Amino acid sequence: MVEPDNLRYTKIPLNNGTGAIPALGFGTLIPDPIATKNATKCALEAGFRQIDTAERYRTEQEVGEAMQEVFKAGKIKREDVFIATKLWNNHHRPERVAPAFEASLKKLQLDYVDLYLIHTPFAFQPGDEQDPRDANGNVIYDEGVTLLDTWRRLESLVDEGKCKAIGLSNVSLEKVKEIFEAARIKPAVVHVESHPYLPQWELLDYCRNSGIVMQAFAALGHSSEPKLLEDPAIAAIAKRVNKTSAQVLLAWGIQRGTALLTTSKTPSRIKENFDISILPEDAMREISEGIKSRVRFNTVVETGVPGFIPRGK
Ligand SMILES: NC(=O)c1ccc[n+]([C@@H]2O[C@H](COP(=O)([O-])OP(=O)(O)OC[C@H]3O[C@@H](n4cnc5c(N)ncnc54)[C@H](OP(=O)(O)O)[C@@H]3O)[C@@H](O)[C@H]2O)c1
Repeated sequence: MVEPDNLRYTKIPLNNGTGAIPALGFGTLIPDPIATKNATKCALEAGFRQIDTAERYRTEQEVGEAMQEVFKAGKIKREDVFIATKLWNNHHRPERVAPAFEASLKKLQLDYVDLYLIHTPFAFQPGDEQDPRDANGNVIYDEGVTLLDTWRRLESLVDEGKCKAIGLSNVSLEKVKEIFEAARIKPAVVHVESHPYLPQWELLDYCRNSGIVMQAFAALGHSSEPKLLEDPAIAAIAKRVNKTSAQVLLAWGIQRGTALLTTSKTPSRIKENFDISILPEDAMREISEGIKSRVRFNTVVETGVPGFIPRGK
């Protein structure tokens, strides 16, 4: 039996003085709406206090309904949960930011979010189409707006008290530096794919030194091939410390200083993923230094087109 410890309750302070982000987060990129609602309720009941959604996932409505039901039941308060959502690529023009943000708040049934992220640095043709394509099927980008223009509008959402913190997602180190240096309100969070096959150490170092929280998505490798959960080094550590491979991966991510996101629609896995414990130093080293495979599972960083959302959704 592994004795329970407090790793699951780790919080990382934010650089803007509005508090801290719970390191262990639950993501809601789940294609089925009923499964999304059930999983979100289950995650909150299991103990998760960081919830991630996005306009592009089309799950804000269900996440909002799940949260309201849990809040109304009286056991968890709104202010105890850190809630993030994201601005999609077709709303990068400054005049489109506030309406997109307000629509997200309405679907979530909230009067503020804890974190608002720019989902990708790629601006798509402004309009209501999330995936605008030309006659040849190519994405139509918008050359008329820069990431900094969009960032400035997010800064004013913070001034207006509508979101406590703002951040970037799917960005390179160079882009983070560019925005960090120009920003009046610094990015509090940088949200990128990261796990032992894509540790992003350089980005993590920069974030740490700049007071930014690096938030890792696909912390378990998204169940994609090659399966991170079946990596022999992870499986051997799991056996040694009497935990599952998923629990080892989540503990590693938090102990190295990232906030992270995992997702499951399966209640037993949701509970398992919250039941994490501190890894010994040798296990941390074996993962950080011993695993040499390098795999990026999500190609969204290359084009702005979601890698995990089925086309047509
Ligand atoms: N900003 C972005 O562009 C971006 C992109 C991708 C993701 N995200 C965010 O990050 C979140 C997490 O990403 P992700 O979905 O890739 O997470 P993940 O946790 O790496 O992968 C989820 C997959 O792992 C399985 N799983 C979960 N727990 C498990 C366990 N204990 N044992 C075995 N399998 C397990 C799930 O299966 P079942 O559901 O069948 O249980 C699901 O297939 C998303 O929901 C989203 O909020 C952001």
